[in-house]
Amino acid sequence: MRWLITGSGGQLGQCLVAAVEARAGEEVAGAFDHSELDIARPGALSRLLDSGRAERPDVLVNAGAFTAVDRCESESEHAWRVNAEAPGWLAEDCRAANLDCIHVSTDYVFGGTGTSPYAETAPVEPRTAYGRTKAAGEERVFAALPGAIVVRTSWVFGPGKNFVGAILGQAHRRAQGLETAPLRVVNDQRGSPTYAADLAEGILDLAGLAFGPSPADAGEGAGDHARNAGEKGQMRGIFHLANAGTTTWFDFARAILDLTGHAGLGLEPLGTADLDLPAPRPAWSVLGCDRAADCGVVLRSWREALAAYLGSPEGLALQEAPV
Ligand SMILES: NC(=O)c1ccc[n+]([C@@H]2O[C@H](COP(=O)([O-])OP(=O)(O)OC[C@H]3O[C@@H](n4cnc5c(N)ncnc54)[C@H](OP(=O)(O)O)[C@@H]3O)[C@@H](O)[C@H]2O)c1
Repeated sequence: MRWLITGSGGQLGQCLVAAVEARAGEEVAGAFDHSELDIARPGALSRLLDSGRAERPDVLVNAGAFTAVDRCESESEHAWRVNAEAPGWLAEDCRAANLDCIHVSTDYVFGGTGTSPYAETAPVEPRTAYGRTKAAGEERVFAALPGAIVVRTSWVFGPGKNFVGAILGQAHRRAQGLETAPLRVVNDQRGSPTYAADLAEGILDLAGLAFGPSPADAGEGAGDHARNAGEKGQMRGIFHLANAGTTTWFDFARAILDLTGHAGLGLEPLGTADLDLPAPRPAWSVLGCDRAADCGVVLRSWREALAAYLGSPEGLALQEAPV
């Protein structure tokens, strides 16, 4: 398949480009970061395709979003345009150009007060501007293109600024004596940290099942073709994808420090309320990933994923010079 990736400069966008490039049979038809393609303009994708700046793709993945959760509260118009309207415009352009479409969304569409993993069918109940705009984005994607896929994920870390780098930065400051106050980390939010590289692989796997050639296309009988078409139809809609297992930010920070030679650095637990942030944070962000698991797409545990990230060239560079 030939992939067009929007928001390609972000954590997930970078990993999607790398994953497509590394897979036999997959090709990047175009990858555009914010400066190269502003998705928050109606018709942006159609104009891009007409301009010939991208080769003809088969599938679009939108990894672009306004992800600054607190800024979404005060910059709500901008957040609405990027997170709610832009996905709808992209899906409309996909329909016009006959492209398949995958859009990425978030655990913040839920209320965050659950006690068991949120199923794909659980009612959305966003409590933040970010969550409301992302929930509206999902709706607009399906309104324009009912055969689209929306992948919701949580607590993403990967290339760029992220929690892992922030904790390592704090550890370095303390190791260098630049900071003496104890490192305090929130201990009353639970979720599943998700490595952007694993998420990208999972998205490619789902897309292969939903949009790729079926055994029927490769010469099976007509009955098989109809059955496969039906099965592919079931592969549309909402999927949750996150690394397996759950933790709190506090225990995630502990794991980061333990894996990077900072096991001796003490941590103090903090309550979310102590932070007094503009946007309320969900206490419960755990996504049930059953639909993806039922088709054999399961991401490894967050601990394995964290170790892989820290051992990657990028993770090693981050340990040298945290960002
Ligand atoms: N990060 C998380 O913890 C998390 C959790 C759950 C779900 N998600 C979802 O996962 C997806 C990927 O997130 P991520 O972690 O990769 O976020 P990210 O690192 O913040 O990347 C988002 C990218 O979108 C770009 N962007 C913003 N406005 C744009 C516009 N108008 N046109 C084109 N590109 C634009 C940003 O560019 P600039 O920075 O230059 O503006 C950035 O490169 C998003 O849909 C997000 O909502 C993320």
